[in-house]
Amino acid sequence: MSTTSIDSLLHEERRFAPDPAFTAQAVAGPELYEQARADRLGFWAEQARALHWHRPFTETLDWSNPPFARWFHDGELNVAYNCLDRHVEAGNGDRVALHWEGEPGDSRTITYAELTAEVKRAANMLANLGVGQGDRVAIYLPMIPEAVVSMLAVARLGAIHSVVFGGFSAESIRARVEDADAKLVITADGGWRKGRVFPLKNAVDAALAAAETSVEHVVVVRRGENEVEWEEGRDLWWHDAMAQAEPEHEAQGFEAENPLFILYTSGTTGKPKGILHTSGGYLTQASFTHRVVFDLKPETDVYWCTADVGWVTGHSYMVYGPLANGATQVMYEGTPDTPHPGRWWEIIQKYGVTIFYTAPTAIRSFMKAGREIPLAYDLSSLRVLGSVGEPINPEAWVWYREIIGGGTTPVVDTWWQTETGAIMISALPGVTTTKPGSAQVPMPGISIDVLDEDGTHVGKEAGGLLVVTEPWPSMLRGIWGDPERFQETYWSKFGDKYFAGDGAHLDADGDVWLLGRVDDVMNVSGHRLSTMEIESALVSHPIVAEAAVVGASDETTGQAVVAFVILRSKKAKDVSATEASQLLRAHVAEQIGAIARPREIFVVAELPKTRSGKIMRRLLRDVAEGREIGDTTTLTDSTVINVITDTVR
Ligand code: WTA
Repeated sequence: MSTTSIDSLLHEERRFAPDPAFTAQAVAGPELYEQARADRLGFWAEQARALHWHRPFTETLDWSNPPFARWFHDGELNVAYNCLDRHVEAGNGDRVALHWEGEPGDSRTITYAELTAEVKRAANMLANLGVGQGDRVAIYLPMIPEAVVSMLAVARLGAIHSVVFGGFSAESIRARVEDADAKLVITADGGWRKGRVFPLKNAVDAALAAAETSVEHVVVVRRGENEVEWEEGRDLWWHDAMAQAEPEHEAQGFEAENPLFILYTSGTTGKPKGILHTSGGYLTQASFTHRVVFDLKPETDVYWCTADVGWVTGHSYMVYGPLANGATQVMYEGTPDTPHPGRWWEIIQKYGVTIFYTAPTAIRSFMKAGREIPLAYDLSSLRVLGSVGEPINPEAWVWYREIIGGGTTPVVDTWWQTETGAIMISALPGVTTTKPGSAQVPMPGISIDVLDEDGTHVGKEAGGLLVVTEPWPSMLRGIWGDPERFQETYWSKFGDKYFAGDGAHLDADGDVWLLGRVDDVMNVSGHRLSTMEIESALVSHPIVAEAAVVGASDETTGQAVVAFVILRSKKAKDVSATEASQLLRAHVAEQIGAIARPREIFVVAELPKTRSGKIMRRLLRDVAEGREIGDTTTLTDSTVINVITDTVR
């Protein structure tokens, strides 16, 4: 982010004090901060004890071998039991767990008793197919209840799920299935998106045909009703396999550090990293933060997080956090504007949603479409609004509060990452006086700092790099199969402080303003994409000699992918620049997924490089954003950038 935009951000003067009536009923209170400050580990132990333990833990944290933390390690629990059976046994089996809404308008209401029964049967089904503790199961599903059932069934067996976002390509599935060495894949014959059925099973078929793995079975949920290829012996229909499975399943306790899931996320190299999370600490922080950040009253609230299960927000705030807390929630299969632009608001009105959690990119696109669309619906049930995934600009924040929240609801801007597992920085509704644009304060029990390059605290009214200074329960336990990369990526810059990869600024009150990534990771519509990964995809095409990718700021999506490519003179001699750009945009979508498709691809003759051969992406970003070109003195040839600018304009 440029200096001017930081300045304008920090001149944001609007403040919203909590409403005393809200505070009087609030789940969170200021004493949480005091308790955590007085005894951080005791505080987390107390939060962990809100879960059901098959065997209680006696040690809260073992940090004798940093950065490898063990939380509650001598305790045993079953994550699925905590999300399901526990609520049924407490007499809440009739409470709705999921109000599921399909894109075409079909819907299902599933109670905790019903969800528990489905998961028990699914656990038996998976066990029948040979899945046991520690085995990896890949899940490639649309936003249908079976996605939640699959994740919990895997967790119930002490196995490890790896959910692959339904928008990823066959090639991305292959890489993930191979890296995790998955034994089984759960997919569907299709799902609904933008009024059409998009296929999924064929991508899995293509991935497995190319993969060197040991996938034994593919279980296929019927949703899209379209034709699928079938491999006898390997493929099974979900409904057939479920019908054959026993209904009863007793949940066994597993060690707190038993792995729960791997979730791949983009880093600074071409290869996505498999972020590993374990059970006890993860569930403790996901459920605690879900309760206090959203002021959850499970008996009366209807909660809706719009994230897809393929992302970490879907894991922590659509599956594990809310279900561990016995919340009633909405799950929606499709896109916000199908079949009409008011679909989300219609869903809020239909189910009386009280707590709503979404991303700034969605808010900005609704702002653009006009307030009359949401204002045509009754949104008065809403009482808490949350934002996640990227910095929320003050204008979007205020619009969210005014138009969606009727000018009264608290808005919480929550900062966290796939790696942190759960919310780390956020206001607490009823406690914090909020500031549009700032994520504000670390959660109780979380210690963060902002440092300069040398590791010195920057002080107030200064910017630097965000770090987490003490281990936290839901921290990643590693990168699957790559302990060195784990150390190197997060723990080498500032020793035993976790380096998040985000820039941050502390204001005069000491509140935190997040300023975006400081590495080669882009944030497009709240989705993490790596410049290197897209560059690798581009150069894998025969007509491309060299490629450079930058994240250019975009009004709606936050950042957009813009690529600059040099073509191979021989291979590309009959291809026009326009054709090449079209061809390559499609190629990236096929290699990674539609979310990575560049907004623009410019064919150029040369790329700006330093004398040591490094591409100066900073200058390319200036070009892509139509700004004046910055300092070019370190370039080998400073005329290159002028030629590029001329080509682009
Ligand atoms: C960014 C998503 C500013 C940040 C939960 C982080 C944010 C990356 C915020 C993680 C926020 C997430 N304000 N930036 N409230 N929330 N980010 O792993 O750059 O998909 O490092 O996790 O998103 O993205 P991830």
